[in-house]
Amino acid sequence: MSQRLVLLGPPGSGKGTQGTLLAAALAIPEISTGALLRDQMARGSALGVEARTYIAQGHLVPDAVVNAMVRDRLGADDAVRGFILDGYPRNVPQVGVLDQMLDELGWRLSAALEFSLAENLVVERLTRRAALEGRADDSEDVIRERLAVYHAQTEPIARVYRERGLLKRVDAAGTVEDVTARVCLALGVAV
Ligand code: AP5
Repeated sequence: MSQRLVLLGPPGSGKGTQGTLLAAALAIPEISTGALLRDQMARGSALGVEARTYIAQGHLVPDAVVNAMVRDRLGADDAVRGFILDGYPRNVPQVGVLDQMLDELGWRLSAALEFSLAENLVVERLTRRAALEGRADDSEDVIRERLAVYHAQTEPIARVYRERGLLKRVDAAGTVEDVTARVCLALGVAV
């Protein structure tokens, strides 16, 4: 059966890491809005230039920009097999837009996985990544802002999916392998 998944969770909780592993194991695309935006920034496109200001401050990029990007990506041939949305939707209005897109395509979500991780571990992981990769939004003050935006705008999404019976919570502490094992258990898949 096609897996159509949404990954939720604070910055640094491992959405990208687990999304990539799961996508490879299930042979479906991982659609990361953060990665798509960073790609546009690296190319210096008009969209990338617009997104850079928001991302650098830890704020959400305007919905219209992100919604259009996701609509376009879900229309690609490979999404027919299933997909993993990493970092989208990120606020309640985006949930409504995704619902509409899926209705138009005749698809339903399989599950929303919510990764939970204590804030000190978030800061530890992202500070380590800053030292290794130099991602511009991994400075401590921007991490704090991303967390504040997460609590205010993204956390309420979990309730929406819980009420629909789609939410599965995953403890994101421990090693990558530990978390993968919990994801597989939650979804009933093997990787
Ligand atoms: P996005 O790229 O989605 O950033 P994020 O949600 O802040 O998530 P991260 O990529 O920082 O963390 P992650 O949970 O994916 O963890 P990861 O696996 O990388 O978005 C960036 C920005 O784009 C947003 O702030 C916003 O401005 C904009 N944006 C994106 N989507 C948007 C939307 N829908 N609407 C509006 N704006 C949007 O892991 C983090 C680190 O920890 C890595 O170094 C990794 O190697 C390490 N790690 C992972 N797992 C473990 C583990 N188990 N143990 C130890 N280390 C681990």
